[in-house]
Amino acid sequence: MAITDQERQALIDLANEARKRAYAPYSNYQVGAALRTKSGRIFTGVNVENAAYPHTMCAERVAIFKAVSEGETEFEVIAVATNNGGSPCGGCRQVMAEFGLDTIVLIADGDGHLKKEMTLSELLPEAFTPKHLL
Ligand code: THU
Repeated sequence: MAITDQERQALIDLANEARKRAYAPYSNYQVGAALRTKSGRIFTGVNVENAAYPHTMCAERVAIFKAVSEGETEFEVIAVATNNGGSPCGGCRQVMAEFGLDTIVLIADGDGHLKKEMTLSELLPEAFTPKHLL
């Protein structure tokens, strides 16, 4: 899988665009994600918080669940954008790992700058995956 600089930036920009739609009145920490499937479709996601705090859902998982609910389970790359270039949480790493350890993760800040790029296997070493249940 290869991703060009242009594609990388386009996905980061989509994640930041989505970020504006984050529903984060409690933390005020807006997160946006843009996921590209192997088939070339793109799904965005934002964090959706709740007055009952634990029911909050992260942006990455919203994007992934949107994709899976549309029949897409093979992912190439996911961009995650926050104001300060924050890293995906452990729960989101685990959910991403379910669908492949080769997925590329782009971590960007609110200005659209790429802060880090790595594969899921780098982001979540020794991941527990579906193959462990075989
Ligand atoms: N959040 C995400 O959307 N993704 C992450 O990977 C880390 C955390 C959200 C959850 C909550 O709405 C806010 O950021 C602060 O934790």
